[in-house]
Parts: sequence; C-alpha cells; structure tokens
Amino acid sequence: MLNELQKKIINLKKEKNAIILAHNYQKGEIQEIADFIGDSLELCIKASEIVESDLVIFCGVDFMAETAAILNPDKKIIIPDLESECPMAHMLPASEVIKAKKQHPDAAVVLYVNTLAEAKAEADILCTSSNALKVVESLPQEKILFGPDNNLACYVKKNTDKNIIPIPDNGYCYVHKMFNVADLMFLKEKYPDSDILAHPECDPEVQDYADYILSTGGMMSHVANSPKKTFIIGTEIDLITRLRRENPDKRILPAYADAICENMKLHTLEKVLKSIETEEYVVTVPEEIAQKSKKAIERMISVSS
Ligand code: 13P
Ligand code: SF4
Repeated sequence: MLNELQKKIINLKKEKNAIILAHNYQKGEIQEIADFIGDSLELCIKASEIVESDLVIFCGVDFMAETAAILNPDKKIIIPDLESECPMAHMLPASEVIKAKKQHPDAAVVLYVNTLAEAKAEADILCTSSNALKVVESLPQEKILFGPDNNLACYVKKNTDKNIIPIPDNGYCYVHKMFNVADLMFLKEKYPDSDILAHPECDPEVQDYADYILSTGGMMSHVANSPKKTFIIGTEIDLITRLRRENPDKRILPAYADAICENMKLHTLEKVLKSIETEEYVVTVPEEIAQKSKKAIERMISVSS
C-alpha cells in the first residue's frame, strides 16, 4: 500500500510527464515509486533509451546522475539531494588519470563508472561491476590502467592475463569494506544450502569465500533464476529490500545488516516530491567533458550489448 506522500509524487509525476530512475540501493519507499530500478549499467542503458519524458528524477549518487545527464543532453536530469555523492568516485581526480597516462603511454584506460565526469573524459572506455572483465578483454592493449576501485581491479586481475595497474593504488568503497569472512562462515554454517553472493567491491578474501561474485543487477537475476531457497547477500542493505519484495518465496539474508550507503540514503520521499515540484537540482556537465566522456560510456554500452 502506497502512503499519501508516495501517491502525491506519482500524481505529480504523471502531471509533469516525469520519470523516476532509482539505483538498487535506494530506500524501499523510493524503489516503490520508481519507474525503473537497476544497477549502474542498467541505469546507464535506461538513461540512453529514455524517450517518453523530458524530466528525469534520478535517485542515485552524483556520478550516476552525471552519466544520465551526459547521455541525455536534451533532458532535464534532476537529483533530489545534491550532496548524494559516492566517496569512491571522488578518490580518482582527473589529474591522477592524466598523470598515470603519462607514466604508462602504452596502456588503455578503463574506468569504473563510479568516477566523476572529468575523470571519465580521460578514459578510453568505462566499465561497471557487471561488465568489467568483458570490457578489459575487449581491448587490444595488454596493459590496462584501471580505477578507482582496487577490489574490482583485483577481481579483474584474477580473471585475465592482462597487466592490470590500479589507479589510485588504494581506491575503495567504505560500504563493501564492512563485509568479512568470519560473518560469512558463520552464516554458511547456519544455512549450508545457501548461495553466498558478493559484490566485486568487497575485499578479495570475501570474494574468494563467496559462491558468486556479482553486480547488484547480477544478484537480482541470480536469485530470481536459482532453484536455491536461501541467499546470503554481500552488498548494500537496500538491495535486500528489493530482493525480498520481488522474491517473496525465498529467504534473503544480509551478510552484514549495517552495510548502509549513507550517501544513497540522502534522497527521501520529501526531497523527491520537492524536486519534481521545483525541478531542482539540475545536473549539468560542461560540454567538452560531456562529449569526451560520452564516447567512453557509449563504447562500454556497445561492448555490453
Ligand atoms: P552496481 O553497478 O552493482 O549497481 O554497483 C554500483 C555501486 O555503487 C556499488 O557500490
Ligand atoms: Fe559509492 Fe560504495 Fe555507495 Fe556504491 S556503495 S555508491 S561505491 S559509496
């Protein structure tokens, strides 16, 4: 049952022909009123396909909204809270990428979509947690500068013969650092028939212990299609909210219940309503940076499709 605020948002959304895109880590009450919920790659693709609306309310962190703005220069992309930033994306300024390129002129630059537009503009191609390996394997170069997430770099390194050089050498996500093997061992002992799913932003030892390493979108498909009944989930808590809502017959357990991305939670129903009413805050990317980063995003989308 939707509450009064949610109903008000849905009515206003119709009136203004707006749509709401939400990342899998948004609060349940925002997921319930979203037109589309997805992982970073799914949101990128959705953003490139939007035709039916000129007003897009983007409930996700800064780099995701920027990506939507880059792919939709003719639309108004609105973020309900401007302070919703991904700390990991801020760990790799464009200047660091330029410096690394000078040190390794023979390397290709693959950047995780969790980067700011200025850094994206310096990349040859982007990747997300669901296609990182495929993207790296698609390139002719043997040497790859890869950033900013060290754990995702480590995952790629383990699965390719290419020379992966992480930039910076210590980029991480504070949420996925919260998982540890001891918690997983305890849960596996309690639920031996479960599948443990871990995000590639988790530490390497957590990835090694997990049964599957998947993006948030990959986790959604795995749970929906697996004959198993119990799943232990190593990613942000509100993916579990979505998994439970869409798989009511399955037991979905968090690998760590306090793994909360506070930055994602800055968006609230009140702020979403205000953002549709006022059409603020508009996300813009300077033209030259948008053009350059668009090429790297589109290259990734073509490798992924
Ligand atoms: P996904 O691409 O799996 O949605 O991950 C995005 C993210 O920010 C993970 O922390
Ligand atoms: Fe960034 Fe981590 Fe939050 Fe994802 S979970 S948006 S990587 S801080």
